[in-house]
Amino acid sequence: MSFPTDFVWGAASSSYQIEGATNIDGKGLSIWDIFCQSPGKIAENFSGEIACDHYHRFEEDIQLMARIGMQAYRLSISWPRVLPEGRGRINAKGLSFYDRLIDSLLSHKIEPWVTLFHWDYPYQLYHQGGWLNSDSSNWFADYTKVVVDKLSDRVRYWITLNEPQCFIGFGYQTGKHAPGLTLPLSEVLRAAHNVLLAHGKATQVIRASARKSPRVGPALVGLVKMPKTESSAYINLAQDATFAIVEKNVLNNTWFTDPMILGHYPKDGLKLFELALPRIQGSDMKTISQELDFCGINVYFGEYAKATNDRKITSCPPGRGQTTMGWPVTPEVLYWGPKFFYERYKLPIVVTENGMANCDWVHSDNKVHDPQRIDFLTRHLIQIKRSINDGIPTKGYFVWSILDNFEWTFGFQQRFGLIYVDYSNQKRILKDSALWYQQIINTNGQCVINENS
Ligand code: GCO
Repeated sequence: MSFPTDFVWGAASSSYQIEGATNIDGKGLSIWDIFCQSPGKIAENFSGEIACDHYHRFEEDIQLMARIGMQAYRLSISWPRVLPEGRGRINAKGLSFYDRLIDSLLSHKIEPWVTLFHWDYPYQLYHQGGWLNSDSSNWFADYTKVVVDKLSDRVRYWITLNEPQCFIGFGYQTGKHAPGLTLPLSEVLRAAHNVLLAHGKATQVIRASARKSPRVGPALVGLVKMPKTESSAYINLAQDATFAIVEKNVLNNTWFTDPMILGHYPKDGLKLFELALPRIQGSDMKTISQELDFCGINVYFGEYAKATNDRKITSCPPGRGQTTMGWPVTPEVLYWGPKFFYERYKLPIVVTENGMANCDWVHSDNKVHDPQRIDFLTRHLIQIKRSINDGIPTKGYFVWSILDNFEWTFGFQQRFGLIYVDYSNQKRILKDSALWYQQIINTNGQCVINENS
């Protein structure tokens, strides 16, 4: 038995990580453009200024996607490319780039999944307070309207925000990511509340204005705790730990996802954050919890929940395989993740990102052999299939990433792509994993199952 016939096979990227052309055709500055200028923030002080030059090479990249046989491509729109000041004036050239991108995808029968915000926040709006400004959710809704008006005659799948946990957690609390702020918890939670309102208002805008009947969801970080053994005690422990808030930060699942889907903040978070809570207006939760069509989760690895009263303590066995990011290889995370998220939120699950950074280089036969990635993806797909067999509606899978790209603070040191990019001349090479993925898609996953049953 292969995957369900409507299972979606795709790959993902984001604007700042691949487009380059940061200062071309009227694009405004984003907080990442500025952040990368500070020495020491990014490995080797690189930036996304050129990245994969996808802005100029998207036709070639889409041809490669078509060669792989991709059914869907998850891309993001650069807000300041469309609205250079973040609001008001539209940059026609910027918008037209996405227009052409969508047309090209559709002409190759690749369904675009459009993420409205994947971290490249307009610098001008940052100067007006960014996500701390009480108008920020309206700015996002207005930007959404511009994009939806232009693209929704062809785009059906919309992702509002990518990983709010990270862009608020790392951007506003730890300062590791742009805009590099280290704010007290009360400010962090105020920004997070505005982000939630932005998600809700953008969803309203999409529902009200899209010409093609839309499917809407967020792409959240899926922080999954896994059971060490499959006894019900461990499973319950892991499930509880997955949805517990135990630290005074937003790097958890429920602070964002519960309001979006269940319409209220989680009780344990309200208690732990008691002294730092934002002001919640009467209608806010209603605005935030719009009807959604799927719950997107970005999942790279999980941790084992330990049988102890202290839910904080989780771990992986010593010596476990790891990727070049240092992340453990834990394929069963794509069984437990979809299962736990579905059981709590009751929405179809889409794995909006999964993949690994590997030590890829061009071998002496001019090919890029990446057996680790093939094995990694195989093992994760087997677990997705297991979730489906158990009745979990896991509807799609997006490999992160289509291309090697700018991996935020790691610069170009980490390669996540199915396609190798030689940054010295922008040459692309399909890695072995891309050719393997072509077969997977071609057989609707049948060959994963055959080879591993
Ligand atoms: C993410 C990021 C991606 C990363 C990927 C690998 O959503 O975390 O959005 O941009 O490149 O996760 O770290």
